[in-house]
Amino acid sequence: PVLVVDFGAQYAQLIARRVREASVYSEIVPFSVTAAEIAAKNPVGIVLSGGPSSVYEEGAPQLDAGIFDLGVPVLGICYGFQVMASTLGGQVARTGAREYGSTPVSVTDAGNALLSGQPADQTVWMSHGDSVAQAPDGFTVLASTSSTPVAAFANDERRLYGVQWHPEVKHSEHGQHVLENFLHRAAGIPADWNSGNVIADQVERIRAQVGDGRVICGLSGGVDSAVAAALVHKAVGDQLVCVFVDHGLLRQDERRQVEEDYVKATGVRLVTIDARAQFLDALAGVSDPEQKRKIIGREFIRSFEQAAADLVLEAKSEGGEIRFLVQGTLYPDVVESGGGSGTANIKSHHNVGGLPEDLQFELVEPLRTLFKDEVRAIGSQLGLPEEIVQRQPFPGPGLGIRIVGEITQDRLDLLRQADAIVREELSAAGLDRDIWQCPVVLLADVRSVGVQGDSRTYGHPIVLRPVSSEDAMTADWTRLPYDLLAKISNRITNEVAEVNRVVLDVTSKPPGTIEWE
Ligand code: XMP
Repeated sequence: PVLVVDFGAQYAQLIARRVREASVYSEIVPFSVTAAEIAAKNPVGIVLSGGPSSVYEEGAPQLDAGIFDLGVPVLGICYGFQVMASTLGGQVARTGAREYGSTPVSVTDAGNALLSGQPADQTVWMSHGDSVAQAPDGFTVLASTSSTPVAAFANDERRLYGVQWHPEVKHSEHGQHVLENFLHRAAGIPADWNSGNVIADQVERIRAQVGDGRVICGLSGGVDSAVAAALVHKAVGDQLVCVFVDHGLLRQDERRQVEEDYVKATGVRLVTIDARAQFLDALAGVSDPEQKRKIIGREFIRSFEQAAADLVLEAKSEGGEIRFLVQGTLYPDVVESGGGSGTANIKSHHNVGGLPEDLQFELVEPLRTLFKDEVRAIGSQLGLPEEIVQRQPFPGPGLGIRIVGEITQDRLDLLRQADAIVREELSAAGLDRDIWQCPVVLLADVRSVGVQGDSRTYGHPIVLRPVSSEDAMTADWTRLPYDLLAKISNRITNEVAEVNRVVLDVTSKPPGTIEWE
């Protein structure tokens, strides 16, 4: 792999993704990694990320200097560039010349592999207070800005390179090209990592792990579990059984998409648990959001556990044993939990985790090394239905946390209908990829007066919550076209009985969360 050394901030994940976009596999390691640990991973290249610190600050992240002696090509970016400079005997100084944002840079040596083919004048994204004042011995300066004399350097003999700007962000005009130059030209790494290879590789790994054991997988209708199960099925066929819990809080057509389209595309063996009545009973009379979430989580585990126990028994009666559970864990979860930073749990999120002790399975996690966009690419390549592969995030507790008030069958039906209209119109307008998601919320405890025909109505409002986001941690409300909003509003108030008002949520996150509960 190419190892991306993480000096903090959010740059490392972005760099890792860009390296993969250049068809080279990448992994993230913390800056505290030793040269020996790096060597053990047999990297073909190393990228040092940016970070929030200053090299001379007390407690600034340091790098094991031995890393530069491994003979592995290294690219330092921003803070990584400065660490490289100061470690190898160059000079980093607080010149007072801070550069933030779009900055013009002059490429003075486009003959070097790193900046080969780059225009002499271009705009790049900068974010630094310190600057490299002098390159280390043996290094050639390749670029500069009006206030930073050393904005890029290279030592071809040792294959060490650095840039002060952030080539991984889209605001750096030719940034991806710089990364590709480093990977393919300077380091000579072939561009041969793609979804085809990932599938072949994972299939092999799954077979090695599972052998002739049996595997169980909970499908949620979302992308991750769908792709994970499809990979496992490709690897071990009918040794896999999938369980889909219909808790009645799904959106229109979701169950059919899993039961028909997904099963047809993959050939997986599917058991659907119809738990709709059980969930409605358990949720009767409950309006408190946190309590709803707890009940839904508990009932979900209960249903899944029951189904799993039945399948374990069935397997036993056939002389087999279910030993494995598939989970759709993604790479950001792995990186972030490895980072160990304790972020506050603002809402109790639930997934198919937290299985009880007496149901012990070994985990199969074929997506552990992948980012979401890569998971989607693999899903498409495996021929999964686009409705599933391109699905926007949908919370585990489903429509249950989009009814403000008690959950009843009638209210669920009503919300499902409104939600379907919104999704249909957003798709028709070609906006699916522009928005992150658009929760549709029923204010079941609120009524307002309206007029329809000649008569007065007393109905419920529906809230539209379209948001734009990169990662759901922060979000902004999406400025949907007025005409589209008007059309959605007309359709909902005409087609959904009991709804006489449609309102738009214009709150960013923070302070609002994306969901209403
Ligand atoms: P909030 O409302 O916290 O939501 O801004 C952030 C993202 O998480 C989704 N979400 C959930 N996903 N289980 C999930 O799997 C949950 O309990 C849950 N609650 C919220 C939400 O849709 C948004 O994408």
